Amino acid sequence: MTQDELKKAAAHAALDYITEGTIVGVGTGSTVNHFIDALAGMRERIRGAVSSSEASSARLRAHGIDVFDLNSIDTLPVYVDGADEIDAGFAMIKGGGGALTREKIVAAVAERFVCICDASKRVDVLGRFPLPVEVIPMASSHVARALRRLGGEPRMREGFVTDNGNLILDVHGLSIDTPIEMEARINQIVGVVTNGLFAERGADILLLATAGGVERYV
Ligand code: 5RP
Repeated sequence: MTQDELKKAAAHAALDYITEGTIVGVGTGSTVNHFIDALAGMRERIRGAVSSSEASSARLRAHGIDVFDLNSIDTLPVYVDGADEIDAGFAMIKGGGGALTREKIVAAVAERFVCICDASKRVDVLGRFPLPVEVIPMASSHVARALRRLGGEPRMREGFVTDNGNLILDVHGLSIDTPIEMEARINQIVGVVTNGLFAERGADILLLATAGGVERYV
């Protein structure tokens, strides 16, 4: 199977976690695009979605799925999203698509985070994938200096502006042994909006697509 076929298999497995009549939290990325396409098949049986990016909102609307403002809802049973890396404790690096801040906000509201991945995303230690950090533009040099002091090598994501009007520094060379602590330390740097470590609030369920089928971990 190709990596894209594996992503599609994980995305389809996530439909099992959607309760009829509810609003569904939807992430961002190529794996989630498969999920949105699959969700379209049951659009009459859900109320709609809240989305973590303009791109996902556009795809949901193109399928005729209503997109709700997060502030208009009180509860969100499930959030489905991909990851760039996920470890054994379900801590993740996310933000390869640059949507990390809205993803973290929607995930914070959700009762359950269902992570959909192909098997290449499963790692023992986070950090081979460069850690995305969303920064306020005027603070980018200050934040880059602080990230170097933490042992990383930040590189500006060229030609990219987030849905929130900010910049992304991709931090190379970090070996993240203590994800919760690293997430908190980076978020404390003035000028950081958020970073792509999802450790304090990691995934609850992992649907990992392998050549042998989709493995489910809780
Ligand atoms: C976007 C994300 C994605 O979930 C992550 O980058 C994985 O993407 P893909 O499903 O395309 O491999 O965090 O900001």
